[in-house]
Amino acid sequence: MTSIQELLLSRIRDVADYPEPGVMFKDITPLLADPAAFTALTDTLAELATATGATKIVGLEARGFILGAPVAVRAGLGFIPVRKAGKLPGATLRQAYDLEYGSAEIEVHAEDLSDGDRVFIVDDVLATGGTAEAAIKLIERAGARVSGVAVLMELGFLQGRARLESALNGAPLEALLQV
Ligand code: PRP
Repeated sequence: MTSIQELLLSRIRDVADYPEPGVMFKDITPLLADPAAFTALTDTLAELATATGATKIVGLEARGFILGAPVAVRAGLGFIPVRKAGKLPGATLRQAYDLEYGSAEIEVHAEDLSDGDRVFIVDDVLATGGTAEAAIKLIERAGARVSGVAVLMELGFLQGRARLESALNGAPLEALLQV
């Protein structure tokens, strides 16, 4: 493990039985509150985005906004929010995806993405991969391409990587920590 990975891991707090019994929640708020750790995370993700030739950063609501926005500024790229349905005022593209119980929808402003864009997706956690897979579909429906996906943490036991790799067509999936 690198020193940056050790720093990031040390600032993630395990919260038992949240949001329901039996779940160990990974709380990133201590990391966000530590400027050295947050800067190291931002710089690392911005380097990964730049290496893929990204032209835009997409962040996935809500924690993906906190991480993705400073990455976009650091990389000198625009930030595009992918929001839960019903929050964006303009013309949107909408994509449904399955949850453990039921389904959900995410949206993006159609005008924010165009044919030539190479979009780098940033989020805090990869779990089942359902959210990121839906975001990939949304970006491709807008005519753009996904240059890569990066998350702070990958929950490997949920098999999200296998699900995403088939959607990514060879673009990289980077996880800074396996938890
Ligand atoms: C969490 C997390 C990812 C997603 C990962 O978001 O921030 O976006 O779930 O899960 P998946 O890989 O199984 O799709 P959540 O929907 O809880 O939203 P939040 O960031 O607003 O809390």
